[in-house]
Amino acid sequence: MIVELPVMKIVKTAQSKLEGIDFNNLPFGSTFTDHMFVCDYANGAWQTPEIVPYGPLSMDPSASVLHYGQAVFEGMKAYKDDEDKIWLFRPDENHKRINKSSVRLHIPEFPADYFFDGLNALLKLDAAWIQKGLGNSLYVRPFVFANTAGVQAAPGNRYKFMIICSPVKAYYSGELKVKIEDRFSRAAPGGVGYAKAAGNYGAQFYPTSLAQKEGFQQIIWTDAASHQFLEEAGTMNVFFRINDTLLTAPVNDSILDGVTRKSVIEVAKSKGIAVDIRPVEVSEILEAQKTGALKEIFGCGTAVVVSPISGFGYRGDQFEVKPIENSFASELKETLLGIQYNTLPDPFGWRYEVR
Ligand code: COI
Repeated sequence: MIVELPVMKIVKTAQSKLEGIDFNNLPFGSTFTDHMFVCDYANGAWQTPEIVPYGPLSMDPSASVLHYGQAVFEGMKAYKDDEDKIWLFRPDENHKRINKSSVRLHIPEFPADYFFDGLNALLKLDAAWIQKGLGNSLYVRPFVFANTAGVQAAPGNRYKFMIICSPVKAYYSGELKVKIEDRFSRAAPGGVGYAKAAGNYGAQFYPTSLAQKEGFQQIIWTDAASHQFLEEAGTMNVFFRINDTLLTAPVNDSILDGVTRKSVIEVAKSKGIAVDIRPVEVSEILEAQKTGALKEIFGCGTAVVVSPISGFGYRGDQFEVKPIENSFASELKETLLGIQYNTLPDPFGWRYEVR
């Protein structure tokens, strides 16, 4: 069935996949909903957006994204409350950030009305894929890439913006231990570290696989110049609790400006927790671990929400971070989830209802 909307064409799937889905057994991001949003850029403008059945793309083998990695993405989540209302969390931040990332990768910015109309229409169409209950959500993945045909290493004139959705539960199951990396680098001043560029993630896979062989799940990256300052972990920004103060690195051109990170900071401040935003030295964390001042480490991000880190490694030594009572990570996570799932008031105005 084809429905013509003023600014969007919607083609519904003839056969939903929903019935065959085991929602209790969902490896993160491996199952996708019935539909996807697609919008092409050609002739100097974004064309009429479409929602079509989820499925493979056909593209020229010389498309620039395949050769030069010109692609950026976002991560968001949609939640369903007890009254079947669907909520997003600060989606305007994701829209702003995908455009900021796009500018850095020389991709045309995507208009806000296309982004929000696409999100609303797609989430309403695939609403049955969003399970109720804490811990269930729909991971929403907007992304945009260059598909100009031709291997000239130069900006092209064709791009594709898409949104796909995946029903998810927790990102990490089990413990989360991180290695402080002092050999490989994720980002350098003047580079693309602040952008959600596809290559920032792909380039982490090899060093992360080495860390995994040593028993860690993730890496905490250090600055490329000196390896003395802690930056971010693979898919998360990182916080350290030193006695009763939360410490985190300031965002700069090497660190992603995480939506969960800035929300954690605001929620913490609203609870009267002191937050110190300044460069974090590896040596001070080692010292705090030695003296017992290091009470917690946690990572945060859309996919992981807030995840306690139970240990870390540095230059062959391993350190444990024991669980504590009255953990800041638990308290902050509970508040964030309450806002996201519409079970707590939202004094910040962060919830966005999908209509
Ligand atoms: C997110 O939290 O949305 C991320 O970017 C993590 C993703 C790479 C799985």
